[in-house]
Amino acid sequence: MAAPVNVWDYELLAEQKLDANAHAYFAGGAGDEVTLRDNLAAFERRRLRPRVLVDVSSVTTETTVLGTDVALPILIAPLALQRMAHPDGELATARAAAAAGTIMCLSTAATARPAEVAAAAPGAPRWFQVYVFADRSQTEDLIAEAVANEFSALVLTVDTPHLGRRERDIRIDFEIPEHLTVAGDIFGGHFDTGLSWRDLEWLAGYDLPVVVKGILTAEDARLACEHGAAAIVVSNHGGRQLDGVSSSLDALEEVVAAVDGRAEVLLDGGVRRGTDALKALALGARSVLIGRAMLWGLAAAGEQGVVHVLELLRNEVELGLALLGCASPSDVTRAHAT
Ligand SMILES: Cc1cc2nc3c(=O)[nH]c(=O)nc-3n(C[C@H](O)[C@H](O)[C@H](O)COP(=O)(O)O)c2cc1C
Repeated sequence: MAAPVNVWDYELLAEQKLDANAHAYFAGGAGDEVTLRDNLAAFERRRLRPRVLVDVSSVTTETTVLGTDVALPILIAPLALQRMAHPDGELATARAAAAAGTIMCLSTAATARPAEVAAAAPGAPRWFQVYVFADRSQTEDLIAEAVANEFSALVLTVDTPHLGRRERDIRIDFEIPEHLTVAGDIFGGHFDTGLSWRDLEWLAGYDLPVVVKGILTAEDARLACEHGAAAIVVSNHGGRQLDGVSSSLDALEEVVAAVDGRAEVLLDGGVRRGTDALKALALGARSVLIGRAMLWGLAAAGEQGVVHVLELLRNEVELGLALLGCASPSDVTRAHAT
């Protein structure tokens, strides 16, 4: 292929590069993959409403998320097993996120420890994603390491009391390659299935902002706010958990309305274009996160691949803002999309 010009090109390159085991795990969703497909289709259903003859001689893609400056309204979602995509794994992603000026969220099920990721990109903003295991000391050890290494928010994933049933993995008899070590083992089925809203207060005890990831309803958005969430990620885990739930984009507006300014609202699921990020901003998100879009860059070309994906998306956001008649992400309003 000629040089990749968009995320779709990286998806093809990644598919060529990855073995079938890894590709099934990274690309797949739960059940019939209805939600996986709908995450993408929902962006296609929406239309932007550009305003013209607005002064766009100076456009910035910069914004802030939980008070942290980011160069673009696109963060890196927590993704397990990144060394299965590329030998440098999470360390490459951390360096790329730092170079692009955005926040990386490290997964509990990473193939690098929080301390290694911190050392790979000193001073860069990073969040830690929390899965709570039945043996809570395992979770607490990981959080303690993240806190000691200046991770600045804890992202509690709430849509995963059990892993979703991902049939691509079942068919291929998915296995973690033997040479990899996972920081927090999510595959043994040892999640704390009794986790409840009260546990948000336990997490808040670490004195870091708590981000609740995996909300799809107004009811849960309200509860998250009442339990002190600093931010909410509208997410269906990239279509990998409960199949048949709404696309993230379709759930966004009801969550934004229920939150009513009490927390920042972020979104992930299906973002492949800068204009997808702009549609999410118009519907009330402060920023989006990318999962597979980042991963395809990592699989195709390691750190440089992730840097290039972020650069392509930043350029798409910048051009999109100008053509939409907005000088910055904060100028995007509900009137900019239908
Ligand atoms: C291969 C893969 C692994 C993932 N691992 C995690 C994880 O460890 N923790 C988590 O909270 N979410 C995980 N997710 C969900 C992502 O954080 C995010 O919600 C999703 O990828 C967004 O959809 P997108 O891939 O269409 O961007 C994973 C997603 C994928 C595709």
